[in-house]
Amino acid sequence: IDESHFVTRPPVVTIMGHVDHGKTTLLDKIRSSKVASGEAGGITQHISAYTIKQNNQKITFVDTPGHAAFSEMRARGADVTDIVIIVVAADDGVMPQTEEVISHAKASGCPIIVAVNKMDKETANMDMVKAQMAERDMTPVDWGGDIEFIGVSARTGMGIDDLLENILLQSEILELKADPSAKAKAVVVESSLEKGRGPVATVIVQNGTLRVGDNVVCDTTYGRVKAITNDLGKPVKELTLSETGSILGLNEVPGAGTIMVGQDSEKEAREIANRRAEHVRAKELSKSTKVSLE
Ligand code: GTP
Ligand code: NA
Ligand code: MG
Repeated sequence: IDESHFVTRPPVVTIMGHVDHGKTTLLDKIRSSKVASGEAGGITQHISAYTIKQNNQKITFVDTPGHAAFSEMRARGADVTDIVIIVVAADDGVMPQTEEVISHAKASGCPIIVAVNKMDKETANMDMVKAQMAERDMTPVDWGGDIEFIGVSARTGMGIDDLLENILLQSEILELKADPSAKAKAVVVESSLEKGRGPVATVIVQNGTLRVGDNVVCDTTYGRVKAITNDLGKPVKELTLSETGSILGLNEVPGAGTIMVGQDSEKEAREIANRRAEHVRAKELSKSTKVSLE
């Protein structure tokens, strides 16, 4: 591989944890906007992603739902991730989805940082959280292990700079590199069919630069990128390394977790997508034939 065009790529950080432990509020504080208060019932129902800047360095955050029903989304979140942040509320401690998230995080092989949130509460108990995590093979650095525990409060903002600096430190160690001039490659983190807009795919760019006018194929879907909106909902001409935004112009809604890849022509993109769709149909047909023979 020719690595001469490679540059350092911002880290993609996924925030996971038990329901209501403060993932969205924490991200919200980091981003200084008001996402959590605008959610239906304060429950994250989908994956959302934002890029922020700390000391002029970018970090892309992926928020995930903590509700038990969203296990598959958390698994998917772990897929696009460079670093996992496990949020544990300092008053509640380890809960069922915390345990699930620990196993996703371990399976991902990504570095893990534990953010012990709600440290502003009188009932906050950092030592209890550390002990519970240590029991699950997540021993804090100051207890002789290798996991950083950072006390934060999404409410007051305490500890957030420390958390961001830690992320950037981990990111440096990872030496994340990619080529902004390469053909675009992006992961779909969520997708939907929107009235008046058609199929919409929210992506995180892993390599290259995705531009309006690019021909892309995404699993069995394809199209010419008609418009891009960034994570602030503003129209932009392109998304580059680790940036996130929504793509319009695909012929159908691609599945979440699929990979969008730039192609040289619309014809090429269409042919690849159609070939894959044909393959899927043939597989399904052979499955149903088998069932009817049994
Ligand atoms: P799900 O997306 O539903 O899994 O929840 P979440 O982890 O995103 O939690 P969310 O941000 O919705 O916060 C849940 C509740 O905890 C809200 O009422 C927040 O105001 C509160 N909360 C979050 N962080 C803090 C904190 O640092 N201190 C205090 N006191 N409350 C907090
Ligand atoms: Na919540
Ligand atoms: Mg949330």
